Amino acid sequence: MKIFKDKQSLRKELFKEKSVSFIPTMGGLHKGHLSLIKRAKNYKKKILVSIYVNPKQFNKLSDYKSYPRNIMNDIKTLKKINVNYLFLPSKKDIYEFKTSNKMHVDKFSKQLCGKFRKNHFRGVINVVNRFLEIIKPKYIFLGLKDFQQLNLIRKHILKRGINVKVIECRTVRESNGVACSSRNFRLNDKDLKIASKIYYYLYKVKKKLKNNYSSFQANKIRKYIYDLGVDKIDYVQYINVNNIQFLKKNNKIKKKFKIFIGYYLGKVRLIDNI
Ligand code: PAJ
Repeated sequence: MKIFKDKQSLRKELFKEKSVSFIPTMGGLHKGHLSLIKRAKNYKKKILVSIYVNPKQFNKLSDYKSYPRNIMNDIKTLKKINVNYLFLPSKKDIYEFKTSNKMHVDKFSKQLCGKFRKNHFRGVINVVNRFLEIIKPKYIFLGLKDFQQLNLIRKHILKRGINVKVIECRTVRESNGVACSSRNFRLNDKDLKIASKIYYYLYKVKKKLKNNYSSFQANKIRKYIYDLGVDKIDYVQYINVNNIQFLKKNNKIKKKFKIFIGYYLGKVRLIDNI
């Protein structure tokens, strides 16, 4: 695996390659990230992973500072699964150039997480737009775990006519149902159990709702989840994803509606969609 710590040397290398499969991450790698890389192996291009904890997408400096970083472990993991390139850019590499494409931040950014994390999605689209201009990949692999992020990036790419194909990857979960996340590293056993109960509860709720979408009782659900020991619920909503998703033939979402949740266990903020 070749590691690039600056933009110039990466560009030089990529000049030789026709184009690559790109997996952007913030590190703290887990099974979810690895599933994106494994998926990329089907696409016959060299695989480039980036690790960059993007300051612009954090609302609180404390959250940015406490974000789990484990670069030595991450490098080992990526070598083991034969990733071709790892890009570890500096802030200067990313932010000190003028982009050709302006950011397109769709109004969906104001819903769900966007209501509670001001400018978070602007920060995400900003960094992804910049990565796309530096790397010019053929494919970008994104996880459905971050459904809203995936859709907003897709909308930006479509609106600006950027020549890259978005590959959606399904959510990977631990055996207790909790969606893999770098933030799980900061949870204790008690909190992990609560997160697991929330997943199974929402899974059951969704099964029961089936076709009766109007019977989603947000208040009852919020109460149940608070009683499990959650510290704060930002939102729990049932959403028709067909209204916000550009549906494609190979779309992985079979059900029309999904439950979206954002909540805190102690200081750790978790999101999921079921
Ligand atoms: P990060 O949280 O590191 O996630 C990197 C990619 O892994 C995202 O596409 C995310 O959706 C996917 N992912 C995370 N957990 C997953 C899981 N359990 N199953 C499947 N995929 C999962 O998302 C970001 O970083 C950043 O916002 C980024 C896009 C890199 C921009 O800074």
